[in-house]
Amino acid sequence: MEKKWWHNAVVYQIYPRSFMDSNGDGIGDINGIISKLDYLQQLGINLIWLSPVYRSPMDDNGYDISDYEDIAAEFGTMAQMETLIAQAKQRDIHILMDLVVNHTSDEHPWFIEALKSKDNPYRDFYIWRKPAADGGPPNDFRSYFGGSGWALDEASGEYYLHQFSKRQPDLNWDNPRVHDEVHAMMNRWLAKGIGGFRMDVIDLIGKEVDKQIMANGKNLHLLIRQMNRATFGKGDYVTVGEAWSATPEDALLYSGAEREELSMVFQFDHIKQFWDEHAGKWCSKPFELASFKAVIEKWQTALAHQGWNSLFWSNHDLPRAVSKFGDEGAFRVPSAKMLATALHCLKGTPYIYQGEEIGMTNVRFETIDDYRDIESLNLYHVRLAEGVSHDEMMLGIHANGRDNARTPMHWDDSPNAGFTTVKPWIAVNPNYREINVAAALAEPDSILWHYQKMVALRKQYPVLVYGDFQPVLRDHPQVFAWVRSLDGERLLVLNNFTAEHLTLDIPPEMQNWHGECLISNYAPRDQLAVRLELQPYESFALLIGR
Ligand code: GLC
Ligand code: CA
Repeated sequence: MEKKWWHNAVVYQIYPRSFMDSNGDGIGDINGIISKLDYLQQLGINLIWLSPVYRSPMDDNGYDISDYEDIAAEFGTMAQMETLIAQAKQRDIHILMDLVVNHTSDEHPWFIEALKSKDNPYRDFYIWRKPAADGGPPNDFRSYFGGSGWALDEASGEYYLHQFSKRQPDLNWDNPRVHDEVHAMMNRWLAKGIGGFRMDVIDLIGKEVDKQIMANGKNLHLLIRQMNRATFGKGDYVTVGEAWSATPEDALLYSGAEREELSMVFQFDHIKQFWDEHAGKWCSKPFELASFKAVIEKWQTALAHQGWNSLFWSNHDLPRAVSKFGDEGAFRVPSAKMLATALHCLKGTPYIYQGEEIGMTNVRFETIDDYRDIESLNLYHVRLAEGVSHDEMMLGIHANGRDNARTPMHWDDSPNAGFTTVKPWIAVNPNYREINVAAALAEPDSILWHYQKMVALRKQYPVLVYGDFQPVLRDHPQVFAWVRSLDGERLLVLNNFTAEHLTLDIPPEMQNWHGECLISNYAPRDQLAVRLELQPYESFALLIGR
């Protein structure tokens, strides 16, 4: 496998609205991010995935863009954005811009033009269909945010497609002029010195609308190859495609070296495992280690020699990692450390979502009015109209709603967690008094310092980056363990994924394994022997001596 600089990089995702407010309006902003670059440098990360900061009416918090080449006033100015890029670079940190080109905002000038008349030159930038015979939407395609995926433009009597909110009309990627505009825009961003792109729902751009094929349409990979050739393929950039639909076979198409598409995909198999087949994320299934192990193993194995994995437990659309996969109660600290070790010891590029490094947890607002996320709000109303009870829907929102990840970052224990001096746009999680960056920095044994150490280890030990992945103790119902091996060096990674004390019988062939403990969340382990008494969520990585 050809080595790339970003193979041993660690990405940190910033959700700007919730990261740091510099000017006291309750909304995070670019200057707030600049003020925290030293913190990020200390953590050791190399790349920032910046969720959208472009001009936007904020129907979906910036995933609805009205100008790709301007900055939302509430986040700052283009000059500040350029300062952020430069200041980050001085710290060896590169910025991945969020590229949202499956759709625009309904306030984008292209859409405003398109609405003017059927023969406007921009009409064909979007996807229009005549009503069905009864005057209703052309077909029964549903939006991810609830309701029909078609909205009526009364003036022309035609419907336009929107896979997300009706304020996010889908772009028509069958129109080459759309490609030209998007490619030119991407090149202007690359010229500003960014490190690459995170590509929002990229698997949807090849859609075949009349067949109702949205993900993985027949032109998808062609479109990505064209984009690669016209833009980022000309330099050494990082590209990560969000692809909810991706199978391992698809991932090889996206990220195979000779394919000239993307660096890696961001797929959600390990997340979707715990969603209901019908009600999806709104009815979550309890965490179950066996299927989690099977999914991770599947992806580690499938991309062992070709392609490259993104590794993540959380992002701005998902619940908090420790709440989902660990324990947000008594074992919050050891379980968050275990999750950090497990993440960074897999093969791929790790992504840390803001606040994960201090073990931030899900939030449980009692009333729907405290929520801000368009998806939770819309689906609350849709599902209640379908007969689901308030309590049941709130359970779903508490478990999987996107605002879990979007409450403000906890910087210290002052009012509003040091995020802002006024009422924030969304309430802070009340547990900020215990869980915050200032406290974590002051505590040598904190989750934060564990992350910092783990990020540093990836720079130091090639076995963590390039080592083969081989599961061990495969059928164990509570332990997830594997060995990474490279050039005769072996690293055992062993995690108790439960809150129980376990007695682990070590298989004979592993009993004489001993060496250097690179990281642990209890006392370091330097040998295995016949039996191990594992603490709740105990986890360690042992570099086995030759
Ligand atoms: C992606 C984003 C999500 C957004 C959606 C529509 O899934 O991560 O936040 O709502 O695309 O742009
Ligand atoms: Ca602000």
